[in-house]
Amino acid sequence: MKVTVDGSLCTGHGRCYSLAPDVFEPDDEGYSMQRDVPIPVPPGQEELTSRAVHACPEGAITATES
Ligand code: F3S
Repeated sequence: MKVTVDGSLCTGHGRCYSLAPDVFEPDDEGYSMQRDVPIPVPPGQEELTSRAVHACPEGAITATES
């Protein structure tokens, strides 16, 4: 599983890194640090990551299986 944060949609709500801090990280301004690049999801983090995907109010996070 990989996730990608669309940098044009992320407005810094922070739910992603609050829910799945082992996957997402904030930058200095509260946006997701990794934007527009696929982020590998570590084993065991899939459920929290899925919750983060659905929790983003901007719909900025896309999950792909691979
Ligand atoms: Fe950005 Fe959504 Fe996370 S707006 S900081 S990707 S919860």
